[in-house]
Amino acid sequence: MEIIIQPTAEAATKIAARLMARTIREKPAAVLGLATGGTMEPLYRELVAMKLDWSKLTTFNLDEYIGISPMHPQSYHSFMCEKLFSKVNINIGNVHIPDGLAKDVPAACAHYEEKISAAGGIDLQLLGIGTDGHIGFNEPTSSLASRTRIKTLTPQTRKDNARYFERAGEVPFHVITMGIGTILESRHCALLAFGKNKARAMAEAVEGPITSMNPASALQLHPKVTVFLDEEAAVELKMKDYYRWVFEQKPDWQKV
Ligand code: GLP
Repeated sequence: MEIIIQPTAEAATKIAARLMARTIREKPAAVLGLATGGTMEPLYRELVAMKLDWSKLTTFNLDEYIGISPMHPQSYHSFMCEKLFSKVNINIGNVHIPDGLAKDVPAACAHYEEKISAAGGIDLQLLGIGTDGHIGFNEPTSSLASRTRIKTLTPQTRKDNARYFERAGEVPFHVITMGIGTILESRHCALLAFGKNKARAMAEAVEGPITSMNPASALQLHPKVTVFLDEEAAVELKMKDYYRWVFEQKPDWQKV
């Protein structure tokens, strides 16, 4: 894993945006795995401001709530349209988000996996992290080999995400999420985590044992992961000085 620690979330987001922009410029028909959540909003603003060509890109979102319509203001469909897709020249036919209203959820999940494979797999997968270490909506004890499927949110995640809903009780109990096995198949993962409430989950994910109790720790098995942190999210990392040193000593050809 490459751990990039920056003084602020803004500085880390700018570097993450440059990494994405480079992928898009180098491979105009790349397949991007996209994420939602407050962490992604400034990143999408940066990307929009870069005026990149999205016309040939294909995207797959990590997850979606079950039981709320795509038009619901808190659906991940709405989030993506509002924050990104309405502001770039993406071909909406190339956009894929799990269907939270699917009648046959297992069939819809299997179909989602097929579409990722048919697109040639994901080149760059964006990830945030939950306070309990979830990636996508793979809650603790998710199989590290899991594929796209239904999951039940923990009370903590429902509480964390309640801030976006009018009433806490409105947060759905169920979601569709790409599995950890699905995420691990992407060619490059970029995880962003900011703020002190992510510090424990990040320390466990980066320096703890690989365990389904912290699903993000499975990324230790992936050959190409870039982690973007601000100081607060990095505070519990034992080797943070080393990660800074690595970043400062990077050969020019490795710089983003
Ligand atoms: C949700 C999403 C995750 C995201 C997490 C963190 O649970 N399913 O993909 O990483 O929220 O969100 P935030 O960035 O708002 O802290």
